[in-house]
Parts: sequence; structure tokens; C-alpha cells
Amino acid sequence: MFWLKTRIIEGRGSLEKLKKEAEGHERVLILSSNSMKRHGFLSEAEDYVTEAGAEVFSITGLPAEPSVETIEEFLPKVREFEPDLLVALGGGSVIDATKALKVFYDAPELEFEEIAFIDRFSKPKPVPKLKTRLIAIPSTSGAGSEVSAASVLKKGGIKYNIVTPEIAPDVAILDPRLPMTMPREVARNSGLDVIVHGIEAYTTKVANDFSDAMAIRAIKTVYKWLPLSVKGDEEAREKVHYAATMAGIAFLNARLGLCHAMSHKAAWLGPHGLLNAIFLPYVMEFNAKRSDYARRRYAEIARELGFQTAKDLIEVVKELNEMLGVPTLGELVDEETFMARLDEMAEKAYRDGLTAFNPVEPKPEEIKELYLRAFYGRG
Ligand SMILES: NC(=O)c1ccc[n+]([C@@H]2O[C@H](COP(=O)([O-])OP(=O)(O)OC[C@H]3O[C@@H](n4cnc5c(N)ncnc54)[C@H](OP(=O)(O)O)[C@@H]3O)[C@@H](O)[C@H]2O)c1
Ligand SMILES: [Fe+2]
Repeated sequence: MFWLKTRIIEGRGSLEKLKKEAEGHERVLILSSNSMKRHGFLSEAEDYVTEAGAEVFSITGLPAEPSVETIEEFLPKVREFEPDLLVALGGGSVIDATKALKVFYDAPELEFEEIAFIDRFSKPKPVPKLKTRLIAIPSTSGAGSEVSAASVLKKGGIKYNIVTPEIAPDVAILDPRLPMTMPREVARNSGLDVIVHGIEAYTTKVANDFSDAMAIRAIKTVYKWLPLSVKGDEEAREKVHYAATMAGIAFLNARLGLCHAMSHKAAWLGPHGLLNAIFLPYVMEFNAKRSDYARRRYAEIARELGFQTAKDLIEVVKELNEMLGVPTLGELVDEETFMARLDEMAEKAYRDGLTAFNPVEPKPEEIKELYLRAFYGRG
């Protein structure tokens, strides 16, 4: 099966389409992070909603890498305004927070612990039908949350997913003017997440020809354009912006693997895309060593990029990391603090739902070894 719930509107200036999309709604709530206000996109969006004849209310200051506490903090404001349309204007963090706010606004009887995928060996309670429409307008080029069915939230520094088609946005507006204002590091970290989405989605146990098409196009685009995009090149930023959504469509269908399981469980250490980039080469080496399927699939990607083997692709990933200044895990945290949580991270990554889609079933000790290799930068 291949599915996509979200209608995608793209192109320079397409933020204006919010006017048409807001028509027929009475109370529109825009959730955004501070940069969107600073760069004028929030007031532009507010104007479109007003022109559509709806009442608009905005909440700014949504944080990066949201947690369960973030949702508790903002939910009363959402309930107070009683919106009939939610607009998420920001990066993956804002979109994920808005998706979770939609769940608890529309279904107040639910608790995070009962609907989140805490552990792949137990099933969460299904999310009922939710009514409030959701429009996602990404300002970074990375997470793919504008088309995905997931909301990723931290609890105690560790990330868990809520996954249901009910939170996949109804509309995504991809206006390449927004990611133009990303600082270099945000462009790098979110862009690296796209490569990881593409490579992991291409190599899961449930990848199919349709998700492959999206994954390959996203990988090729990011490989070619990310270094330029990080430098601020306008054409490159636009290309990577669309590639991010393509990779989102790929993993919406093919899911992700061990790299994401490990980065979610290490979320207390740094930004999501950066952690993924750090873990990716180690996870690829692990998968390639143990699985013919993974080796063959990595080689297919390598050939699309003009190389030959799985080993070549791992080298390409390492070189890209080096070129973009991706650190080792050991540069993000001191040894003692890291070691104190290592067993917990390895056990929880083993139990993460995404680990089930990885081409190789890892043991907790093997995941621990991968964390250690990433920490010390051992090749
Ligand atoms: N749901 C999914 O399927 C999925 C998939 C992958 C990742 N994720 C999640 O997505 C999150 C990461 O999202 P992200 O990589 O998109 O980054 P982000 O965390 O949304 O954004 C990082 C920072 O970049 C700034 N920023 C964003 N857009 C900007 C712009 N256009 N100009 C200037 N500054 C801008 C924001 O700062 P200000 O606060 O100053 O605005 C923000 O704090 C993680 O929590 C990750 O777990 C979700
Ligand atoms: Fe990701």
C-alpha cells in the first residue's frame, strides 16, 4: 500500500494560498516559533486568514524539540480560543507540537502514555476520529512532518511517537521563501535528517517501489544540493525544501529504522537531524555487515549517486558529515553523563517501534556498542 493524506501546494509565494484554505473557517489558530514572527511570515499568514474572513489568533514561542510538558503548557490556550482550523507555521518541532495539540484538543479524554508508541511489544490505544483541520507550513527543510502521520515528543529527554493518520496534515504549503531565513546550522541539521529519512526508508523491511521513488529522488537531491543550501544558495534551498517533503512521503509509507530509534532515545543530547547524521554511518555498517538485503539496497542507492557498492555509500555519508562539520557524540556530552544513561538508551532503542522495520533485528548489546562507537568516533 502507498498512501498520502496531505494535499501539497508548492512554489515561491504559495503562502498566499492560506487565504483560500482558510475560507469557510471561523476561528483560525496559528502556532509558530519566534523566527516566523521575526521574519514577518507570521503577520503575512495572519493577513491571509483575515482576508479570508476568519478570526485569527496566534501563539508564538513554540520551542524546538517539543516535550509532553510543551503540550501541557500550550493546550489551555488552544482550548480557550476554540479554533476550527489549526495552522502550524514553523519547523518539524512546531508541526509536531501542533499535531499533538490537535489530538488532546479534539479528544481531551486521551493521555499521552496510552496513545504513544512507548514500546514495540505493546500496542497503544487507537486514536479516534479527530475533527479539527490542520494545515502545515514548514519553515525548515527536514522533518517531513508536514506529510507524516507522526508527532514526536520528548518525555524525560527521550522521544516517543504518536502515530495515526488522524494527525497527518490535511494540507501542506511549501513556500521556499520560508527556509531561506534558516541559519546555517538549522539548514544543515534539518537537511541531514532528509538524507537519513531517504536512506532508512529505502532500506526498511516494508519499502516498496512507490516509497523507493520518493526516497531516491530525495536522497539524490540532498546529496547534490545540501552543501550549497547550507551556504544559503536560493535555488539549493528550494530544491532541499521539496526533497524534505518527498522523504517524508517515503517514510510515511516505508517507515524508518534503527538510526531513528537511536536518535529518539538520545534526544537529550542534541538536535534531531544532527544526532541522526552522527549515528547513520555506524548503523549502515552494522546493517550492511549482517544483511544481504541491506547491502544490496545501499548499493542501489550508491549507483544512483554515481558510485558502486554499499561501502561506497557509507563513505559518501561519512564524507558529507565531515564536509558539513558534524561532530562525534563525544563532542556533545561528557563521558560520565553519557555512560550513566547508555544502558537505558540501548534498551529503549531496542524496544522502539522503528527498530522493527530495520533490515536487521539488533540485540540491546549491539545497540549499546553502536552508541559507544558514535561516542568515540570509532570507524
Ligand atoms: N513528525 C515527524 O514525522 C518527524 C520526523 C522527523 C523529525 N521530527 C521532529 O522534528 C523536530 C526537528 O525539526 P526541524 O529539524 O524541522 O527543526 P526545528 O526544531 O523545528 O527548528 C529548529 C530551530 O530552527 C529555527 N527556525 C526554524 N525555521 C526557521 C527559519 N525559516 N528561519 C530562521 N530560523 C528558523 C527555530 O528557531 P526559533 O525558535 O527562533 O523560531 C527552531 O527552534 C524534532 O523534534 C524531531 O523529532 C518529526
Ligand atoms: Fe528524522
